[in-house]
Amino acid sequence: MAPALLVRARLTPLAFQLRARGSNNAASRRTIITSSASPATEPHPESLDKPQDSRSKPLSARQKKFLDKALRVNQAGELAATLIYTSQAPPINKAHPHLRPLMKHMYDQEAGHFKYFNEILAKHRIRPTAMYPMWSAAATVLGWGTGIMGREAAMACTEAVETEIGEHYNGQVRELLGWVTEMEDKGEEIGEELQGLVKQIRKIRDEELEHLDHAVENDAKQANPYELLTGVIRVGCRGAIWVSEKV
Ligand SMILES: [Fe+2]
Ligand SMILES: [Fe+2]
Repeated sequence: MAPALLVRARLTPLAFQLRARGSNNAASRRTIITSSASPATEPHPESLDKPQDSRSKPLSARQKKFLDKALRVNQAGELAATLIYTSQAPPINKAHPHLRPLMKHMYDQEAGHFKYFNEILAKHRIRPTAMYPMWSAAATVLGWGTGIMGREAAMACTEAVETEIGEHYNGQVRELLGWVTEMEDKGEEIGEELQGLVKQIRKIRDEELEHLDHAVENDAKQANPYELLTGVIRVGCRGAIWVSEKV
């Protein structure tokens, strides 16, 4: 059975400023179910913080295959995230002007994630998913639909997506940290690119979990029907990840 992951509070002063008025459901908000352990318990290999030789041992075929799939999924997911917020923002901002800074903050972070993965796919000549047009349409419809349903549904959408995506990034971080530890044990340099990738995916993972916190603080769990909505979105996310790894 998947253990529960207690997502620790990561509220920065900025997050406090962005937190919307009227949040009243703090009690149940920190628990997401995931097969990965808490980010707070993950190792921090020393070589991540040391200057590395840019000439490092090339990745193995298995490692390349893993990154090929993972980075393709990441780019597709970030595309979807930007489109969800783009479609949600007009109705949500109109009905709840106090949420405008939060919606913009989350969109801006997603746009930054998308830009990073676009650049890395281009640099390493990794093909984007063939489902790109399909995911674009689905994300736009999902954002529009939950935006029309209202603030709680829009936040439930973010909660569901970030639960899945947080787990997805967590798995990648753990795999990459495993590589780093293995290389350290063999006395190998990990290389600037791998070092940068681990740091960047960790940062993105933390920002996704921050979005999850914002969503719950803004009454995601008051959405109606909450269970059905988040259940369908989470199954959809898992399906999209599975397909994008392959196609
Ligand atoms: Fe993102
Ligand atoms: Fe996100």
